[in-house]
Amino acid sequence: MRERLAIFPGSFDPLTNGHVDIVRRGLALFDKVQVALAINESKRPIFAFDERRALIDEMFAGEDRVSVGGLDGLLVEYARQAGAVAILRGLRGPSDFDYELKMVHMNHHLAPGIETVFLASRTEQSFVSSSLVKEVARLGGDVSSHLPPHIHTALVAKLQG
Ligand code: PNS
Repeated sequence: MRERLAIFPGSFDPLTNGHVDIVRRGLALFDKVQVALAINESKRPIFAFDERRALIDEMFAGEDRVSVGGLDGLLVEYARQAGAVAILRGLRGPSDFDYELKMVHMNHHLAPGIETVFLASRTEQSFVSSSLVKEVARLGGDVSSHLPPHIHTALVAKLQG
C-alpha cells in the first residue's frame, strides 16, 4: 500500500517543543512526516537555513519516519512533488486560525487534491511561538521548557555570540 506522507511546513526559527509535538502526533495519523523548512522568507531568521536544518535533523535523528526538506517556492508544488496526501499545521488559537484559513483557501484553490490537516496545540504549548521564545530569551527569560535541550543551548549561544 502507498505510504501516506504529510508535509509539515514552517520557518522553524527555531523548532520548539510545540512543533515537535505536532510532528509526533502527525506520525500517529500518517506513515511519514516531512518537515518542509522555508528557505526564502522575509522574516530575517536568527538561525540560517543550514543551522535550522541541522537542529531539526538532530531532533529527529532516531526517527526514520521523519525527514527534512528545504521549501523554496510554492508549498503546494512541494507537496505535490513529494507525493504528499496532506499538509500538516498546528493551531494555537483564533489568531492562528485567521491566518491559516487564508492559506488553506489559497492552497486549495491552487491544488484541490491536497488537504490541510490541523492539530490543536496542547494547552501547555498554546502560548509558545518561535518569535516569543526568541524575544524572551533575548531579554534573559528562561525558555528552556519550551525548546528541545540542544536547541535551547544553540539559542543561548546564538544570542551570546
Ligand atoms: O512557520 P510559518 O512562518 O508560519 O510558516 C509559513 C509557511 C512557510 C508555511 C508559509 O509561508 C508557506 O507556505 N510558504 C511557502 C510559499 C507559499 O506557498 N506561499 C503561499 C501560501 S498560501
